[in-house]
Amino acid sequence: MGKVKIAFIGAGGMANLVHYPSLSSIADAEIVGISDLMEEKLEQTAKKYNIGQTFTDYRKLIEKTSPDAVYIIMPPHHMYDIAAYCLNLGLNIFIEKPPGITKEQTRQLANIAEKKEALTMTGFQRRFAPVMTEAKKMIDERGGTLQCQANFFKNYIDKPPYYNGAIDILTCDAIHSVDILRWIAGEPKKIASSVKSRFAGYDNCFYAMVEFESGAVGLLSANWVSGKRIYSVEMHGKGICAFINPEESAIIYKDGEEKGCALNASELAGSGELFKRAGFYQENLHFVNCIKTKQQPQTNFADSVKTMEFVERIYRSTI
Ligand SMILES: NC(=O)c1ccc[n+]([C@@H]2O[C@H](COP(=O)([O-])OP(=O)(O)OC[C@H]3O[C@@H](n4cnc5c(N)ncnc54)[C@H](O)[C@@H]3O)[C@@H](O)[C@H]2O)c1
Repeated sequence: MGKVKIAFIGAGGMANLVHYPSLSSIADAEIVGISDLMEEKLEQTAKKYNIGQTFTDYRKLIEKTSPDAVYIIMPPHHMYDIAAYCLNLGLNIFIEKPPGITKEQTRQLANIAEKKEALTMTGFQRRFAPVMTEAKKMIDERGGTLQCQANFFKNYIDKPPYYNGAIDILTCDAIHSVDILRWIAGEPKKIASSVKSRFAGYDNCFYAMVEFESGAVGLLSANWVSGKRIYSVEMHGKGICAFINPEESAIIYKDGEEKGCALNASELAGSGELFKRAGFYQENLHFVNCIKTKQQPQTNFADSVKTMEFVERIYRSTI
């Protein structure tokens, strides 16, 4: 197989911030055409990334470009029909998080993908962030994580619900922390949670204590009425602990030593650009390599069903 031919649906914020720059820097990938409903965005993006073919109808894009894989990057409540359409054609697809509005949507996409033997990936980029993979490797060398914590805070007060209420915050956004706990500690066994609405007509504070099948324990702490946007992760293993900001840096302490070992995201990524240091380039590279080698990506839809189930269980397990 030569270059992986990619048809890209969506020329919006996230696509332009991280996915077009990532794919444009991957030698084995070629964006063969793009589609967006808004002609201005379509033309701007096509010009910036030197993409010849543009379409307002995604079906035409697929028909005319015969791609090896399709990116579908748009608001979650508009994504399902397009994803199901592509999968039914047997096409390999990459979508952003969340992998559906409900677990059932994700399960149906996973079912079609399995039937059609399509390769699929959800963009949980923090699993691919250089400081995260490096820190996890160091903990795993000591036998794995015994205790972990995923924090996600935002200052989102007096704001409307996500997408006018089409989706809740935990499923849409704080799912990053839910997925990272699964990546670190495995499948959840028991959960005790608290879900609250503060100063809003929707849930915006989530706390969960989790015991995993592995025996590890974890905490999820997510709160959208806090002081600022902070995403951080803690992992503790035997005689080792890691405090991580996946987009910036991590510090690892071993065996009681006062001075920790610092990891710098830009240094590890070889670039200070967000798409490289925060894991977006690496997740895109993983997807392209999986298409080339016909392997299911790490964050495939069957795996994403488990993350969506974890989200559902947090809601069902309130104390
Ligand atoms: N991984 C992350 O950290 C992260 C961060 C932010 C957003 N996201 C996710 O990225 C996704 C996209 O969010 P965004 O903020 O970039 O959205 P956006 O609104 O900026 O862009 C979406 C684009 O899709 C286009 N579109 C909608 N329907 C279409 C159709 N039928 N055919 C062609 N184009 C169509 C719109 O015109 C728009 O240009 C969401 O799922 C969001 O949750 C992920």
